[in-house]
Amino acid sequence: MDDKITITLTRRKLTEILIGLVALFFASGAVAAVLKYLWPQIQAKGESVEVRIASVDEVPTGSAKNFVFNGKAAVLLHMPAGFKAFGSVCTHLGCIASWKSDESVIVCPCHLGKYDPNTGAVISGPPPSPLPAIDIAVREGAVYALTWKDPNYVKSISFYAGAA
Ligand code: FES
Repeated sequence: MDDKITITLTRRKLTEILIGLVALFFASGAVAAVLKYLWPQIQAKGESVEVRIASVDEVPTGSAKNFVFNGKAAVLLHMPAGFKAFGSVCTHLGCIASWKSDESVIVCPCHLGKYDPNTGAVISGPPPSPLPAIDIAVREGAVYALTWKDPNYVKSISFYAGAA
C-alpha cells in the first residue's frame, strides 16, 4: 500500500494561489486599519494619557489649536483667563465644532450649535449638553492635555463618533 499523497498543481493554479495569498495579506492590513479606526483604544482607568498640545507661544490669546486627544477631536483655546480645552465633537449629532474668533464662540457647522469657550456650555442651537472639558497643565512653556474631566466621556461617544 502506498502512503504517499500526490498533489498536482499547474503553473497557472500555483500563480493563482500566490496572487490570492498576496491579496489576502493586503486585505487583512486594510481590515485591521478599519477596525482600529472604528474602535480606537480607550484609555484604561488610571492610565496616564498626557499629550503635549502646543507651545504657549503657538496659541496667542484669542486663538485656538485643534488637536486629537484619546482619538477624539479636541480644541485648545487661549482665552484672556487662560487656556481651556474641550472635546470638539458636537454633542448634537457628532460634527466637529471649531473656534470662531470673530464671534468668540465654538461653533458647530452642521446646525450652528454654539458653545461658550470658557465653560463648553451650550449658548444656542440644538446641542443637548456641553462640550466635554479636558484637564490641562501649562509647564515649561507648553500646554499638555491630561485627562477628560468626565472619565466616562470617551466610552459614551466611542460608539458613534469614532471619527473624531
Ligand atoms: S451636529 Fe452640531 S449642532 Fe447639530
